[in-house]
Amino acid sequence: MLIKRPRGWEIPESQATPEQAVLGRRALMAAAGAGAMLAPTVAKAQFWRRSEPADPWTRLPATVPDLPPAMRNTRYQPGRDITPERDPVTFNNFYEFGSDKGIWTTALKMPTRPWTIKVDGMVENPGEFDVDDIIRRIGIEERVYRLRCVEAWGMTVPWSGFQLSKLLDIVKPQGSAKFVRFETASKPEVMTGLRQSWYPWPHIEGCTIEEAGNELTFMPVGLFGKPLPPQNGGPFRVVFPWKYGFKSGKSIARITLTDQRPVSFWETLQASEYGFWANVNPEVPHPRWSQATERLIGSNERVPTRMFNGYGEFVAGLYTNLQGERLYA
Ligand code: MTE
Repeated sequence: MLIKRPRGWEIPESQATPEQAVLGRRALMAAAGAGAMLAPTVAKAQFWRRSEPADPWTRLPATVPDLPPAMRNTRYQPGRDITPERDPVTFNNFYEFGSDKGIWTTALKMPTRPWTIKVDGMVENPGEFDVDDIIRRIGIEERVYRLRCVEAWGMTVPWSGFQLSKLLDIVKPQGSAKFVRFETASKPEVMTGLRQSWYPWPHIEGCTIEEAGNELTFMPVGLFGKPLPPQNGGPFRVVFPWKYGFKSGKSIARITLTDQRPVSFWETLQASEYGFWANVNPEVPHPRWSQATERLIGSNERVPTRMFNGYGEFVAGLYTNLQGERLYA
């Protein structure tokens, strides 16, 4: 039965040993003004160029412009060290490219420019948006978020991107819109995992309109100050830092505002283990393992898991009237 196939995130931790090499984090670009100042008319050639050769795991084609400077938003303090860069970009879950952790070499073959995102459904201003036009129009900032995978490991990563609410401000959801559906691109010519027909492609994720509008809901287009590599969902993904990582759809091609609750990829496969809400809660175990602690990728330290992954002050209020729902994975 298909749901008994082991998922990559369920491989024994011994097989998922992170790289031990610790690379110095690239100095944060500290230029003032940030991307928010860029006008829509700025030409692509005016994007900042890379000043150093990219490491193999982030070596993107020349068609991918470098990011404009992104100031770090210090409102979101991770409270722990940033994971060494090599780990987040070489230890991935992205089933479109295969179910093992080392898909980065295959994923890097996916061209991420040009890339358009279709926004449709219950919005006043539907449209197709070029990812670089969005970056110029909205601007970007850097946020260091904790990432907690449902398989009881965690990372801490500096994303560059923008709040989803800023994109919603542009497309203007209609009052009838209750949910947001995220659809990952389907590119069978490079996504070899799509041949595994027992999975319910395309990869769908979803959240409520209130969750989408929360200040934490972020659309990364960069990682460690560089363009988001395909293995991490480049050029454009979503992250909900208070939810298990499987909610954060990668390489998004379409965003749909709807009044129907989306049924996500993992929920379709096994709803008893991977629910719609999937909020991090150390007291609610996964049916097959505890969620009380997590292993930090990079240091291998085991630390207590925190309610809402430590983001309760921002999001707990979203769930006060939903007692009847299974809110935690
Ligand atoms: N998005 C798509 N389209 N396909 C996937 O397989 N895996 C999810 C999520 N987004 C996945 C996805 C899971 S299980 C996790 S833990 C995170 O991506 C991992 O993100 P990372 O590789 O950047 O750490």
